[in-house]
Amino acid sequence: MAIETGKVGAALRDQFPIFEHTTYANSCSQGVLSRRVRAAYEEYLDGWDANGAEWEHWVERAEAARAAFARLLGAEPAEVAVTTSVSQGVSGIVSALDLRARPRIVISEYEFPTVGQIAHAQELRGAEVVHVRPEADGSIRPERFAEAIDERTALVCCTTISYRTGHRHDVAEIARLAHDAGALCLADSYQAIGAIDFDTRALGVDFVTGGTVKYLLASAGLGFLYVRGKLLPGLLPSQTGWFADEDIFKMDISDYSPAADARRFDAGTPPVPNIYAGLAGLSIVEDAGTPAIEEHVRGLTTRLIEGLDELGAQVVTPRDPERRGPLVCVKSTDVRTLVDTLAAARIVCSERDSNLRISLHLYNVDEDVDTILAALARHRHLLA
Ligand SMILES: Cc1ncc(COP(=O)(O)O)c(C=O)c1O
Repeated sequence: MAIETGKVGAALRDQFPIFEHTTYANSCSQGVLSRRVRAAYEEYLDGWDANGAEWEHWVERAEAARAAFARLLGAEPAEVAVTTSVSQGVSGIVSALDLRARPRIVISEYEFPTVGQIAHAQELRGAEVVHVRPEADGSIRPERFAEAIDERTALVCCTTISYRTGHRHDVAEIARLAHDAGALCLADSYQAIGAIDFDTRALGVDFVTGGTVKYLLASAGLGFLYVRGKLLPGLLPSQTGWFADEDIFKMDISDYSPAADARRFDAGTPPVPNIYAGLAGLSIVEDAGTPAIEEHVRGLTTRLIEGLDELGAQVVTPRDPERRGPLVCVKSTDVRTLVDTLAAARIVCSERDSNLRISLHLYNVDEDVDTILAALARHRHLLA
């Protein structure tokens, strides 16, 4: 089914069968399965069944995914690696850093575990990892990054939107601070991409990573890594694979000659089924358009926060729409019980720390927000 540009919410709800029986507000964990993504998996199976190995077509699909990610990021396809996960992309980046010259890696306290753990793994190569901590209000200010970044810093990692609190960070300012000290800047944007209108050039970062599981509406096993084009000649990842070679089908094992473009950060055989699903999920986001999605989601999160205020709940996520995205976190006295209680009423949310996570996307509508608020009012004692 075609989706008209700007059509979100009720206009495309019937694309997502789960809403026939469930109030789903957990896209920060997994986006909803659409008819289009289901059909894409079928298409993959049909082609495999009909033709056996469709390698040429499958490689073409991987290139289509690279181009789709690039459009979403406002970048060139030559600046995008197709990965299986954020972990692959981040490991590729750090493997290309000269940590002898610059041993410091700065990470925010809100990094997803994989980013923090990969940074600390570099201690085996002599790295020194510095954490930037949040303020009492949960925000992480650029000034705190400034204190941690020095002339020995190779990489600064920040997360565009925190998976733990929903805070949206001043990525452009953090990138500027990194560059002033000669360091590179990575923005893990998994919790943002697909739900906000993303402009990589305006942010000025060197690397952006994310994947298709959440707001890109597809499956596990497909991600991307943006690398600023100008940096590519100077970045040689030692984490690699044959799909990163300058000529994949030469099958040459006499040397390491990576592709000139960001494909040098690809690795092994592309995750073909996930690429079919990913292209379908991305096409929904592209059809609707990220400006319309962002505006729609902003309306929903504002309605939610106003309702939570009326309940006297402690909203952890900033009220300023510029400082949040699709994820709203609210403090709970017993979050496990709260998530289970909501699930029993077929309302799907999730938890991190002691926060209930409610995340809203293009397919959610005002009634979803009202259903969640009514349930929270019934279980008010589980909110702090
Ligand atoms: C901010 C963020 N980064 C990374 C990931 C996942 O990383 P990977 O693709 O390596 O599993 C997630 C999702 O679970 C996430 O929320």
